Amino acid sequence: MENFYFVNPTKIIFGHDAEMRVGSELKPYKKVLLHYGGGSIKKQGLYDRVVKSLQEAGVEWVELGGVKPNPVFSLVEEGVRLCSQHNVEMILAVGGGSVIDSAKAIALGACYEGNSWDFFENKAKPQSALPVGVILTIAAAGSESSDSTVITKEEGLLKRFVSHSMLFPKFAILNPELTYTLPSYQIACGIADISAHIMERYFTHSKSVDISDRLCEAALKTLITYGPRAIANPTDYEARAEILWTGTIAHNGLLGAGRIEDWGSHMVEHEISGIYDVAHGAGLAVVFPAWMKYVYQEDMQRFVQFAVRVWGVDYAFGESERIALEGIERLERFYQQIGMPVSLQELNIPEDRLDEMAEKATRNGPVGNFKKLSQADVMNILKLAK
Ligand code: NZQ
Ligand code: ZN
Repeated sequence: MENFYFVNPTKIIFGHDAEMRVGSELKPYKKVLLHYGGGSIKKQGLYDRVVKSLQEAGVEWVELGGVKPNPVFSLVEEGVRLCSQHNVEMILAVGGGSVIDSAKAIALGACYEGNSWDFFENKAKPQSALPVGVILTIAAAGSESSDSTVITKEEGLLKRFVSHSMLFPKFAILNPELTYTLPSYQIACGIADISAHIMERYFTHSKSVDISDRLCEAALKTLITYGPRAIANPTDYEARAEILWTGTIAHNGLLGAGRIEDWGSHMVEHEISGIYDVAHGAGLAVVFPAWMKYVYQEDMQRFVQFAVRVWGVDYAFGESERIALEGIERLERFYQQIGMPVSLQELNIPEDRLDEMAEKATRNGPVGNFKKLSQADVMNILKLAK
């Protein structure tokens, strides 16, 4: 096991009607920025309940909606201006990963004199940030208790991230019922993203990591059991609850403690959703199996373990390589079963910009750790994903 430092300060408030607690959580702040996406929270009545809770607690707010999936920097800049005009002290993100990431980026920008894109290009280190609180409406990105934000700058279509402990939200409110209104495709995208967050940690060369191996396997098996159930029945509270909590645990740092994590597939996928504006989870369902087929020989035994323990492939299935490939095949079939694409073609992504994506993904050097991927490696993975 590697040495590690683990902290996750986000308070989780989970369950029925949890969103009605938001007013009391925000009471210490004089002015809040209420931040949300394209309107799903208004359609499902969540907006009205949040407003009621804020009013009852005597919390004042200004608001900024319109966050798009794969959130963009221009809206972050608008949020920063609003915060300074209204002396905002806290940002409340109501929505999914895109809204939360936009809120985190605004939180950074509101405490910085310069252009906050500097943080995304490693030209400046965050010194302070406004606190962020979350009401989550989709199980997916894990941003509700992660230390990261991912934003796309429209010029150059650069999708980049910042990680810093100041970006852990102060609290995250998780009510599985708030996910009932999600279209099946979005639930499936979320499941694919959650599975990828687990596997980015699972595929490691770190030794003696049995506890986190088994936590990762349990989290993946929970997705495999409850994912199809959650999609088949939008009001299955138990299934939604299992997926929602798995999504948070998958990305709150616990599963990676003591391990060297990979993240190559995410770096490649960010170039896809940066240019083509596809859902991040759908991009991962395409990239991850291709990455696996490209790297499994780096540690065949780990892939055999994945096949046997996660997918129930029998040791009698054949020699190691056959078992390893069967595990990858079953992952792909699972993605297909929940309605995810597994090729770039199914995502309607043409071949003409693969070179550009490979170059952008590796501009600052190789990506990933299980195998350090050069530009040529990324190109080979994208070709395998065609
Ligand atoms: O905008 P609205 O109208 O709310 O609609 C959203 C959006 O269209 C809709 N939606 C969300 N909750 C809903 C709902 N529709 C009906 N009912 C509900 N309850 O779903 C669509 C997708 O929302 P989005 O927030 O984009 O999804 P997700 O949570 O998957 O976030 C994706 C973003 O997170 C980033 C991704 O790159 C992507 O930009 N990530 C952030 C991470 C982090 N900060 O730690 C890690 C991840 O790996 C990921 O990169
Ligand atoms: Zn992700």
